[in-house]
Amino acid sequence: MEKRRILVTSALPYANGAIHLGHLVGYTQTDIWVRYQRMQGHEVHYCCADDTHGTPIMLRAEQDGVTPEQLIARMHAEHLRDFTGFHIEFDNYYSTHSDENREICYEIFRRLVKADLIEKRPIEQYFDPVKGLFLPDRFIKGECPKCHAKDQYGDACESCGSTYAPTDLVNPYSAISGAIPVRKQSDHYFFKLGQCADFLRIWTRGVGTLQPEAVNKLDEWFRAGLTDWDISRDAPYFGFEIPDAPGKYFYVWLEAPIGYFASFKNLCAREGIDYDAFTDRIRSRDEATEMIHFIGKDILYFHALFWPAVLESAAFRTPTFVFAHGFLTVNGEKMSKSRGTFITAESYLKQGLNPEWLRYYYAAKLGPTMEDIDLSLDDFVARVNSDLVGKYVNIASRASTFLHRHFDGDISQAAVETGHDNVLAAGVQEIEDEVREAYNARDYGRAVRAVMRYADRINQYFDANKPWELAKRQDDRARLHAVCSEAIAAFHRMTIFLKPVLPALAERAEKFLGTPGLTWHDLGRRPAQIGKYDHLMTRIDPKQVSALVEANKETLQPTRQPHSQQRHAQHQEHIVETTPGSPISADDFGKVDLRVAKIVQAEHVEGADKLLKLTLDLGGETRTVFAGIKAAYEPAQLVGRLTVAVANLAPRKMKFGVSEGMVLAASGEGPGLFLLSPDAGASPGMRVK
Ligand code: MSP
Ligand code: ZN
Repeated sequence: MEKRRILVTSALPYANGAIHLGHLVGYTQTDIWVRYQRMQGHEVHYCCADDTHGTPIMLRAEQDGVTPEQLIARMHAEHLRDFTGFHIEFDNYYSTHSDENREICYEIFRRLVKADLIEKRPIEQYFDPVKGLFLPDRFIKGECPKCHAKDQYGDACESCGSTYAPTDLVNPYSAISGAIPVRKQSDHYFFKLGQCADFLRIWTRGVGTLQPEAVNKLDEWFRAGLTDWDISRDAPYFGFEIPDAPGKYFYVWLEAPIGYFASFKNLCAREGIDYDAFTDRIRSRDEATEMIHFIGKDILYFHALFWPAVLESAAFRTPTFVFAHGFLTVNGEKMSKSRGTFITAESYLKQGLNPEWLRYYYAAKLGPTMEDIDLSLDDFVARVNSDLVGKYVNIASRASTFLHRHFDGDISQAAVETGHDNVLAAGVQEIEDEVREAYNARDYGRAVRAVMRYADRINQYFDANKPWELAKRQDDRARLHAVCSEAIAAFHRMTIFLKPVLPALAERAEKFLGTPGLTWHDLGRRPAQIGKYDHLMTRIDPKQVSALVEANKETLQPTRQPHSQQRHAQHQEHIVETTPGSPISADDFGKVDLRVAKIVQAEHVEGADKLLKLTLDLGGETRTVFAGIKAAYEPAQLVGRLTVAVANLAPRKMKFGVSEGMVLAASGEGPGLFLLSPDAGASPGMRVK
């Protein structure tokens, strides 16, 4: 077998939001593929990074009162923690805000200039005069020119679905400051994408470079015409300044994919890998190395057009394959915060759910196409319990009982040699071939189905031989030993098959089997002696899943649309939801009715892990408020104390009841939450101004 040498990447997550279950589809898909290829003995370097630049990150940092550098440092740690929690094992998890990225970016730009593919020309754009910022499309709102729905974004209407230019909006306003934007001219740098059309047509049609659906999508884009790509943004911008162009920055999408190289280069320096062999046009060809990108379907345009065009024009290697996956839905719908289905990786782990349950479920659902995949929560429970616990783990648990009781855990090597249990040996090669082919083609659903068919056979074989009866008769001992040993041999085989999906479970199974570090080459082997059987995996209790949904439903902030749901394939200046940071008038402030409140009762809320239920006395008037302060206060500590409440907040229906106001508390970057209190002498109901 030829040893493949592959640089594998997953899309770089934005550094302004938490990793959620939607993200995990792609990272899980990549991680399984990488683990599988390694088990085959191939050389794989798996690189990723945070995507740290751009307007939304700059504004998000401002909103949080930190520098962009502080924000991205915090997000980097959180993202890595979440990925590690789900057993996503990058060789390097780096950052686009790095020296390597800047250097490679400058080098590529220099080569593009030299190839006469960069052009500078003035364009006119909306500018926010209050904020002093050119406004990306998603930061301009107004009335839809077609259906006149209010508060639509500058690129598309969420009400009627039409797309348009921001300048078409009726009564536009800045989503940042609320100001009326003005048109302003400035010089921008363009990459002449049109000149790469011939190259791209050929590249796109390379054998298997892209999935068939992706090729179709590209055909559409070709037909629409490839226009020059605006690769610069004006200050203020968080990113890399363009050399010899003060105040001009590289648009984040130019340098984000370069971040793949930057991460890899950083890894190479650390581990002595030959960087050029994987990235240089000539060297990569000579050495037959591969570069494979796993991405979501929404960023295909960037990876299948801009990125290869830039690479080719700058004499770098182009991607061997770009694999796009579909989007996650939960219970058949878009993830939603109000339904509690916008679930973060962190909350999943914090609630104590096993990450491998999800890895298995995603694997069972993933195919090689760009089709969306649905996490149906009931099906999730049923499937994991029946397949993993009921079929796979069950084999080990049943067989090991007899093996320990009667044979000291010894595994008989005889059965296979005598061919006495051919029913099991037959068809194993076919299953192995199918599993292998399916993994390689990212058809994990097929791989998992093949393994479960095999598990069914083993369980049937076990039942048919009635080991519990064999155990009763002394002269059936050899038979009992053979049957149970066969079952363990099959379990060993299945552990190898499932190891790319379930690395931690496989490790526990290896310990039990006495066969550490299983790879594909161990398929022909058979364990000799089993160790103590510790339960390998527990069932999912449906209650854990409902608790997870509840935990993600629980929020005191008004429901905001996560930015990932507002994406449009070709408009990628992702917005973070900004609370207006602009000044308000004294009148505006006066609208908030703040009162001194006495906490007369405080109690835990069953099933809520953040909330306390408070009963407030506002000077004769009693209110019930659900406050997210459970982490910081014991109910008993609170009873009798004074605090400040918003008295005229519209009542909000929450899962646990109606909240009729809000209490004020301070919090910062670190842990800790601090309820406000008035000085001594204040009494309930007093107005705070
Ligand atoms: N920063 C860009 C990618 C730059 S790559 C040079 C980006 N970031 S993202 O955080 O929005 O998304 C990261 C990855 O997660 C992308 O591949 C995206 O398609 C994927 N997903 C984001 N939401 C998703 C779902 N709901 N479902 C499946 N994948 C999702 O795009
Ligand atoms: Zn409309």
